[in-house]
Amino acid sequence: MKTMTCIEDLRETAHRKVPRAFIDYAEAGSYAEQTLRANRADLERIKLRQRILCDVSARSTATTILGEPSALPLSLAPIGLCGMQHGDGEILACRAAQQAGIPFTLSTMSICSIEDVAAAVDKPFWFQLYVMKDRGFIRALIERAAAAKCSALVLTVDLQVLGQRHNDIRNGMTVPPELRIKNIIDIATKPAWALSVLRGKRKTFGNIAGHVSGMESVTVLSEWTASQFDPALNWKDVEWIKSLWPGKLILKGILDVEDARIAAKTGAAALVVSNHGGRQLDGAPSSISALPPIVDAVGSDIEVMFDGGIRSGQDLARALALGARSCMSGRAYIYGLGAAGQAGVARAIEIMRNELDVTMALMGVTKVADIDRHVIASL
Ligand code: GLV
Repeated sequence: MKTMTCIEDLRETAHRKVPRAFIDYAEAGSYAEQTLRANRADLERIKLRQRILCDVSARSTATTILGEPSALPLSLAPIGLCGMQHGDGEILACRAAQQAGIPFTLSTMSICSIEDVAAAVDKPFWFQLYVMKDRGFIRALIERAAAAKCSALVLTVDLQVLGQRHNDIRNGMTVPPELRIKNIIDIATKPAWALSVLRGKRKTFGNIAGHVSGMESVTVLSEWTASQFDPALNWKDVEWIKSLWPGKLILKGILDVEDARIAAKTGAAALVVSNHGGRQLDGAPSSISALPPIVDAVGSDIEVMFDGGIRSGQDLARALALGARSCMSGRAYIYGLGAAGQAGVARAIEIMRNELDVTMALMGVTKVADIDRHVIASL
């Protein structure tokens, strides 16, 4: 693992080990991928101030997220199909996050179910909710998350309708993989992946199969999403969800100041500035460019988290400098998962932790709370 020096090393390894359809799914942005690229480009444009000869001997990357201690200002974002990047991927990623002392978010569209993960880990995790037309199922899903003692519900508010990801169509992305000749040849060259997935608890969507009819076997994700997700979702439903969920609610997928103002009045504990990793509205602004006006408008009323292009500790510092209290990262840990299972996710977190620690030292900062707009050299 030591030779994995940065997230890019994990990414390259994951590309060698994971079948094309699944790594393409994780990498995809929607349509022309302009917003996907803008997320990274705009982060990289932010230059940090180098400060010298400050005593930085006593540094800490620790902080609190939603009032709970966290070793880093980082949580693992909800990602669908983790268990197709590596068998039992959700359990492995959750264990790595918990060992590193940061929150993990389980996606509704996970392979391992809420109950599978709860039985395999020691501490509570967050559960991400997609709202489908079948509200009885959604109520039951919320009850299952509460029964599993999930410590926050992350309601995704930017995916009522799915942005098209061209490669998913070209690859015929299904779960489990459709046995086309092209896929069989691809999987045959990835034996470690095949073994891990074969040994995994499940081969389809654990939260849904057996609960929603038509989900017992192979499905084309994009078609299923289009038929089941509820495009009528609106702010009244947020109230309904809040009335069902006894714990902390996080609204993920806010990019607009007006929406942030409404979100801050819902009683949610946090909002996540996010464009869904550039996978939804192509042409939307980068997440990092949307962050400062949202922080200015609602940062004192609601905890503002950031998601969108985080690949390093330097990126964590950039988002915190622009006002985020903490960040979510998805692809960075998915690369680790595809590269080396639990050890790979642990390495991804360790890489970003070490980078943040050194970055803080070189900026002359010793505490996460001191990473603010003063550490920016130019935008
Ligand atoms: C689902 O969250 C997706 O972006 O595919």
